[in-house]
Amino acid sequence: MGAPEKDPREEVLQAWYMDDSDADQRLPHHKEPKEFVSLDQLAELGVLSWRLDADNYEADEELKKIREDRGYSYLDFCEVCPEKLPNYEEKIKNFFEEHLHTDEEIRYCVAGSGYFDVRDRNDKWIRVWVKKGGMIVLPAGIYHRFTLDTDNYIKAMRLFVGDPIWTPFNRPHDHLPARKEYLKGFVENEVGDSSVDAAA
Ligand code: LAC
Ligand code: NI
Repeated sequence: MGAPEKDPREEVLQAWYMDDSDADQRLPHHKEPKEFVSLDQLAELGVLSWRLDADNYEADEELKKIREDRGYSYLDFCEVCPEKLPNYEEKIKNFFEEHLHTDEEIRYCVAGSGYFDVRDRNDKWIRVWVKKGGMIVLPAGIYHRFTLDTDNYIKAMRLFVGDPIWTPFNRPHDHLPARKEYLKGFVENEVGDSSVDAAA
């Protein structure tokens, strides 16, 4: 009997609870001691993830299948660096404002890396480090934000169902149907809620 197989996604996708410090947003912000979050725990919040071959995205059958299964007809690339992103400083600031979208946010990191922060059920920040080959889906209605890490560069493929809508709704936007549906689907009556089990 060997050790349990490590999830291969963890080489390009790692998640942990953040500390409360005001230090540079591009630092890891681990708690002391570190408190990691598994990709299965992320999935319980509706955050899906894959590890793909970023050197072969044009011919990748696995990516093709995900796009077909999930209806991701639209695709473009977003490179976050001062030379490639118009209004860089303003965008960087806006990306890090806590917000939600009325559709999924789908990002596939094909170069560089960055942090996608998402709120857990208790409103705590989980930092998701996405590196080359990591793809994540943030569900519609989840509060989140994005920052580069200290390497200061990411090139992300952006996918979408149909015509893209990138509009961020900064917190609070709790009255939006997308928010209510997110709460209904992933926060209220969570599967395996121990308080429910205990009361049974
Ligand atoms: C976005 C990411 C940065 O909305 O959250 O594009
Ligand atoms: Ni967003």
